[in-house]
Amino acid sequence: MSETAKLELAGKTYELPIITGTENEKAIDIRSLRAETGYVTLDNGFMNTGSCQSGITFLNGEEGILRYRGYPIEQLAEQSRFLEVAYLLAYGELPTQAQFDEYLKQMSNFNNLPNGVQKIIEQFPNNSHPMGVISSTVCSLCSFYPEYLKMPLEAEDRERGIVQMMAQTKIIAASFYRQTINKKPVPSDPSLGYTGDFLNMMFDKEPEPEILKALDVLFMLHADHEQNCSASTVRVVGSSEANIFATVSGGINALWGQLHGGANQRVLEMLTKIRDAGGDYKMFINKAKDKSDPFRLMGFGHRVYKNFDPRAKIIKKACDVVLEKLNVQDPLLDIAKGLEEEARSDDYFVSRNLYPNVDFYSGIIYKALGIPTNMFTVMFVLGRLPGWLAQWKEMREDSSIKISRPRQIYVGHNKREYVPINNR
Ligand code: SDX
Repeated sequence: MSETAKLELAGKTYELPIITGTENEKAIDIRSLRAETGYVTLDNGFMNTGSCQSGITFLNGEEGILRYRGYPIEQLAEQSRFLEVAYLLAYGELPTQAQFDEYLKQMSNFNNLPNGVQKIIEQFPNNSHPMGVISSTVCSLCSFYPEYLKMPLEAEDRERGIVQMMAQTKIIAASFYRQTINKKPVPSDPSLGYTGDFLNMMFDKEPEPEILKALDVLFMLHADHEQNCSASTVRVVGSSEANIFATVSGGINALWGQLHGGANQRVLEMLTKIRDAGGDYKMFINKAKDKSDPFRLMGFGHRVYKNFDPRAKIIKKACDVVLEKLNVQDPLLDIAKGLEEEARSDDYFVSRNLYPNVDFYSGIIYKALGIPTNMFTVMFVLGRLPGWLAQWKEMREDSSIKISRPRQIYVGHNKREYVPINNR
């Protein structure tokens, strides 16, 4: 007999099925709730609501577990590489060499942008925020690839769209950066590998192997994170059968927010402010605790992780490696470590389970690599892109998929009669 939840409502008892995931997570299946009871549920910020069943990423916030298709992130960060993880997320298995070669070959069909797209990038003022440039330009691709407008997409078009997005998004990002430093774009060279190609397009020089590995690890750590704000946005936009470019652009825009991916830029700005104020991070800790002050300790806290963010631990270690390799002494890293130490012993943070998240240390590495602060969230886009594409693919392949359309509880005026303006 399958497990059920009993619900007593207005003198009637309802039995709702319980769904158990492969990691023993439990959910009350409320898909028939309104039809059976006339009631809906209310859940601000979807803190208790599952939007889908997914086989892509598993995370356990209490134990700090993060796995992509069952593989622990620690093993992938140590032994894999970003494009292999991107393949794993999209197709569910680690590729054989032949499969990986074919994947790279397909991707190399898109190692440049249509001339018109390059011209669109050139219209943006150099002081534009790169996130606005990349989300607009990604969406503009549908004008140059109208074949993706026919929906629902055939499977082969979906696969081509995935590798095309992986190839062209990094070119858009690097091309706009080159424009902001009044330099010509550097052509993409896929033979340098994803991370090497991107850094070469940015700085017109091939980076050291250790730097390549560090950025590859950063991208792997950012690659997916189940139903976070931007992945959920991709699923919502994609559920209406909007085209792939509009769908990814939606994810980019959701990530831009400072409570989400935009936090990595805010962390660097916060650390810089603390440094310029003489390094007194205790003052900022007190500001973060002061309810009358809107200031939050950026890079701290997480909706799911309540002990530690496993990614932050790996990134913190990578900071030391990268700074040492580049022979960079960055006082911001010492301030970040001091801030973390102070917060970890402060009851306000401990009682609310607030610890460094993925955004707290990543900016230190990006800064050491010479990435401008306003491009930090673009780095998050490039890392998260395979996760969005995998979530979109999984959703589009789900025959039971329905357009996302939440309900609400109305709390406005009851029925009233219209009053002409001269009687008001
Ligand atoms: C990412 O979801 C994902 O998986 C996201 C992500 C991914 O990979 O996709 O992991 C990436 O977005 C990481 C988060 C980056 N954002 C930040 O670093 C911004 C600062 N952090 C917060 O704003 C906050 O912690 C969130 C947004 C991350 C989580 O917010 P929640 O879960 O809605 O929690 P909340 O705002 O209700 O906070 C609970 C309490 C509140 O205090 P009380 O009302 O209980 O007194 O904790 C406090 C908050 O005021 N709080 C903070 C704080 N974060 C939470 N207080 C000070 N500084 C903070 N950073």
